[in-house]
Amino acid sequence: MKLKSVVLLTAVALLGGANHGYAQKWEELAKTPPMGWSSWNKFNRKINEKAIKEIADAMVSSGLADCGYVYVNIDDCWHGERDENGKIQCSPEKFPGGMKALADYIHAKGLKFGLYSDAGCKTCAGEPGSLGHEYQDAKTYADWGVDYLKYDWCNTPDQNTKASYRLMRDALYAAGRPILFSICEWGSTKPWEWAGEIGHMWRTTGDIGCDFDSEKDYGDWGEIGVLQILDKNEPLRRYAGPGHWNDPDMLEVGNGMSENEDRAHFSLWCMMAAPLILGNDVRDMSAETKAILTNKDVIAVDQDPLGVQGWRFFTRNGVEYWYKPLVNDDWAICVFNRTTEPKTVKLDWKDLITYDNITRRTFKPDRNLYSFKNLWTGKDEGVTDVTRTITIPGYDVAMYRFTLVDRENVLP
Ligand code: GLA
Repeated sequence: MKLKSVVLLTAVALLGGANHGYAQKWEELAKTPPMGWSSWNKFNRKINEKAIKEIADAMVSSGLADCGYVYVNIDDCWHGERDENGKIQCSPEKFPGGMKALADYIHAKGLKFGLYSDAGCKTCAGEPGSLGHEYQDAKTYADWGVDYLKYDWCNTPDQNTKASYRLMRDALYAAGRPILFSICEWGSTKPWEWAGEIGHMWRTTGDIGCDFDSEKDYGDWGEIGVLQILDKNEPLRRYAGPGHWNDPDMLEVGNGMSENEDRAHFSLWCMMAAPLILGNDVRDMSAETKAILTNKDVIAVDQDPLGVQGWRFFTRNGVEYWYKPLVNDDWAICVFNRTTEPKTVKLDWKDLITYDNITRRTFKPDRNLYSFKNLWTGKDEGVTDVTRTITIPGYDVAMYRFTLVDRENVLP
C-alpha cells in the first residue's frame, strides 16, 4: 500500500470511523490531472453569481465539459464577513442566493464546484483567511457542496507551510466530503518534496501572467510568463504522478496571447501533465481558442492514465524536443520552436531515440515501427520509416502521438 494511503487510512481510524471507502475516494480524486475552470485569471475580483452560473452553462454548451473540464472554481473575493459564531459567509451582494444554491446549480449540470481560501489571516486580496477557523471552514465548505479547495499562502508570517496545509487537509478529511486539495504556496518551500501526501496538486511557481516571455515585478507581487514557468516546472517531473501533480498555474489560453503562443502554452502544459484549469471567459471564446481547448487528442496526452510528466530531452538551434511516455507503449513528442522566427527541422528517427528513467522505457523509432499522428492537424502521418521535414512558426509547436505497430522491426 502506498504511504499516502497508509497515512489517510490512519487518519480516518483516528477520527473515529474506519471508513476505508472514504480514504479510497480521497485517493482517487486526481488520478489524472484535474481539469476545470477558475475565475481568477480573467475576472479577478469581479465575480458574481450570475457570471458563475453563465460560466457553468457555457462549460456544458461549448463542449468543454464533454472534454473533461469538470470543476467550476471560484477564486479569491467571494467572501463576506464571518458571522457572530465565526462562520464564513459569502458576499451577499455578489452571491445573493448563497453558495449552497450555487453549488446545487453547478452540480445539476454534472459539474463540480471549487472554492478558494488562504492559510493565513487574510487572503491575497484581503478577504478573511482560514487561520484559526480551519475545521469550521472545512465543515462549511462540505455543507455547501464544495468539491475542490485551492488554499493560498498570503498573510502567513511565522506559519509553517507543511503544518498549515496538513491542518487544512485534516480538517477537510474530518468534514467527510471528498474535496480535492490544491496547494498554492508558489513553490516557496519546495512543496513537491512534502505535499504528495497532503494535497492533490501544488503550485510550483509564482503567478502566471498573460505573456509568453516576461517577468513582471509589482513590488509585493509579480507575474511570470509561459517560458519562465516552463523552465521552473520541467525539472520536477519525478515528483508528479497519479494523485499528486506539479501545478504550473492556470491557463491563459484565450486571454490575449497569439494563437501560436496559446497552442504552445496548452501543448506544453499537457506534456507536463499539468492540471488544466481554464482561465478565460468561456462564454465568449473565439473559434481558435475553442479549437485549442477542446482538442481531445492533446487533452488525452495530459490525461494519460500512466500519469508521467514529460520532459525536454534536447534543444537544437532554439527548437526543443519534449517527450512523454503514454499507456500501451505510446509516446507523445512535442517539437517546440522557442524562437520568434519560423524554423524548419528534419524529424530523423535516429535522432529521436530516448530513454525515460521514470518508466524505464525506451523510444526506439530506429528499430520499432510506430504509426504517428499530428495532433494539431489531426492527420495520420503514416509510419516511422521515413524522415519528415517540417516548418514550425515562431513560438509554436508540432505535436505527435506515436503508437507502436511492430516491435524490433529492423528498418533498412
Ligand atoms: C495568489 C494566487 C493566485 C490567485 C490570487 C488571488 O496570487 O497565487 O493564483 O489565487 O492569489 O488573490
